[in-house]
Amino acid sequence: MSVADVQKQKSHDLGEEQSIWFKLTPLLKGSNPMQVVMHMCEKYGGVIPINLKDQKLWFMSDVEHFRRVLVTNADNYTKYFDGIRPIFGDSMITVDGNLWQNIRTPQQPAFHPKAFDNYFPFLVEAINAKCDRFSELAESGETVEMVEETWTLAADMVCRALFDRKMPFNPHFVFKAVKTYTDVSSHKSIRLGRQSGELKDVSEVDPAKAVDTWLSVPEMVLGEDPLTTREHTLMAMLMKAKDDENIPDFDEKQVIDELKQYLWAGTETTALTLAWTFYIASQHEDVREKILAEAEEVYGGREPTIEDIQKLTYTKNVAQETLRMFPPIWALIRVAQEDDVIEGHEIKAGDKMVMCTYAAHHSSKYWNNPEEFDPDRFSPDRMKRRVKYSYLPFGAGKRSCIGGQFSFLEICLALPTLLKRFQPEYIGDPIQLNATVTLTPKGGLPFRITERKS
Ligand code: HEM
Repeated sequence: MSVADVQKQKSHDLGEEQSIWFKLTPLLKGSNPMQVVMHMCEKYGGVIPINLKDQKLWFMSDVEHFRRVLVTNADNYTKYFDGIRPIFGDSMITVDGNLWQNIRTPQQPAFHPKAFDNYFPFLVEAINAKCDRFSELAESGETVEMVEETWTLAADMVCRALFDRKMPFNPHFVFKAVKTYTDVSSHKSIRLGRQSGELKDVSEVDPAKAVDTWLSVPEMVLGEDPLTTREHTLMAMLMKAKDDENIPDFDEKQVIDELKQYLWAGTETTALTLAWTFYIASQHEDVREKILAEAEEVYGGREPTIEDIQKLTYTKNVAQETLRMFPPIWALIRVAQEDDVIEGHEIKAGDKMVMCTYAAHHSSKYWNNPEEFDPDRFSPDRMKRRVKYSYLPFGAGKRSCIGGQFSFLEICLALPTLLKRFQPEYIGDPIQLNATVTLTPKGGLPFRITERKS
């Protein structure tokens, strides 16, 4: 079977009826799903058993239990991606055990801060291209969907810096295709459409086309000419791993699956964080002013260097606090491989553990005034006093995010650069959240952009 056939076959996983992502949807469909979650945790505690027809979930919000599943007994709990596998294929983020180690090790150096120098000019290029786009949008005065704008920026940054390629696809179209997957509430219609033999159009992009669009993206990236002859890009490391006889698991299909994974894990999350920071800056004039004042103090009117960006502590704190309030990955899911006991609860092999990081981030057990936006929570002094595992936007333990530091570099460069030149104004209704695979603003984040007078 060819790589393309394997990929096509995998696409049928979308909308699996038994998927937890799919099963949780009715619970989270109301106008304020996260309020429901917080009430549930308050009423029933940090470990809530949920019995479904033929499987059992444990809905967890206590940090001690996060530690057990993610760190101290991590080998007993494997990843869970049923129903959303077409996004990632069998990549680093989805697999377990030795295979995971064999896949992660050769890619790890691409995310060491020492590699960032190499990426920096390409991040600047992508942000400059976004400035041109914002300038056009400011001129036309049209309403801007911020999550789409930041997704296209994040995808451009990943393509240029990590893959050493210009973005070879239409990012607005691909963005809509990706949303077909992550909006799990649409999966039921897709599944029913499949069963009845006719796929229903449940989003702006036909789901059948969404599958094909997404699966065609890695091939397009691979087919694009490299921008440079840089040796230390993620793409170069993927190619080296593919040619390394000592890593037989790393074949051509692996490269394709890794690319797919990065084009989601490295875009959707950063995009949501950036979009929320624009929202915060438009609601809190003082936050916007402090970001600009810090940039002025560190690099003034000249172009920033990577060292400058690393000095933007207030801006980084804003990004961290945004990730506390709106963690893109609001829950981590694992499957128990063997029986275990957590706080007297008997966990059976096969049980699904849903760790709600959002609930910990918003719990008054761990945070003072959790609903207040306060970037100073991330000052070194206050960080020392924080309860361990109460802040997990990047997960914890050996399976935590490989790209966290890279995303702070992207955000701390993009945010002041764009805010310096533009004034994004949120023009939507009061915020409501949507708990899809990621935590998204219901109906998006509409903005109007104006160019600031210098
Ligand atoms: C604000 C931005 C980001 C957030 C909030 C985020 C969040 C996360 C979380 C929560 C996990 C762990 C999932 C789990 O335990 O089930 C994860 C894993 C991962 N992330 Fe990120 N991420 C971000 C940016 C990035 C970037 C920029 C990249 C790469 C370009 C990336 C690549 C990955 C990969 C490959 C994994 C799997 C690691 C492994 O299993 O070994 N992420 N991310």
